[in-house]
Amino acid sequence: MKLTLKIWRQKNAAARGKFETYQMNNVSPEMAFLEMLDALNKKLVEEGKDPVAFDHDCREGICGSCGMYINGHPHGPIPAITTCHLSMRFFEEGQTVWIEPWRAKPFPVIKDLIVDRSAFDKIQLAGGYISVNTGSAPEANSNLIPKKKSDEAFDSAICIGCGACVAACKNASAMLFVSAKISQFALLPQGKVEAKERVRAMVEKMDELGFGNCSNSGSCEAECPKQIRLSNIARLNREFYKAY
Ligand code: SF4
Ligand code: FES
Repeated sequence: MKLTLKIWRQKNAAARGKFETYQMNNVSPEMAFLEMLDALNKKLVEEGKDPVAFDHDCREGICGSCGMYINGHPHGPIPAITTCHLSMRFFEEGQTVWIEPWRAKPFPVIKDLIVDRSAFDKIQLAGGYISVNTGSAPEANSNLIPKKKSDEAFDSAICIGCGACVAACKNASAMLFVSAKISQFALLPQGKVEAKERVRAMVEKMDELGFGNCSNSGSCEAECPKQIRLSNIARLNREFYKAY
């Protein structure tokens, strides 16, 4: 395939960025999207040019670091997958592909497509953990938890902290992320002990770091690669009211 890439280039957070155009020939439909960017970078390096900076680690949909806007969608146009799982077979011969970093004030651009998502770490540090010593894996029946509850907690715990929910939200709200982190504990007995302190601290930190309120538009849920549900936000609100 031949593709035209329009990629956001920005030297650092203070610099003005702009789109640069790159022509790619011989893109195989079997390539992963990040492999296509690797091929572009190889070409740029061979030409003595600055390669496009983009973040990635696991390339298995686990670490959450590969987020970028592709043709107007966080992680690209295919629902429920991360950028690293996006295949070039979803693109067409001659297509123009627009590639941008997350656009949200709490996620400043470090370079090109890489943004600083350490605000999420700060929210987690504020209270997104349990302080009891959990030791090694307990005997399976020592804490009886209804299957429905453990399934729900697991569905919340699969949030990978990618930030697509923030990027998709017109208010740059982090509520889907925070609600997933609150829910994974709120649904289980181990999380009840510090529930009030946790929700107060995480919401306070989220507000302090400049994330907006929930816009109720649901774009976070629509764009989340792990299909974290809006019902988590309802649970976050209930936990927050209970904490005062
Ligand atoms: S809620 Fe979804 S979109 Fe938001 S950080 Fe977690 S996995 Fe990413
Ligand atoms: S590189 Fe880890 S989720 Fe994509």
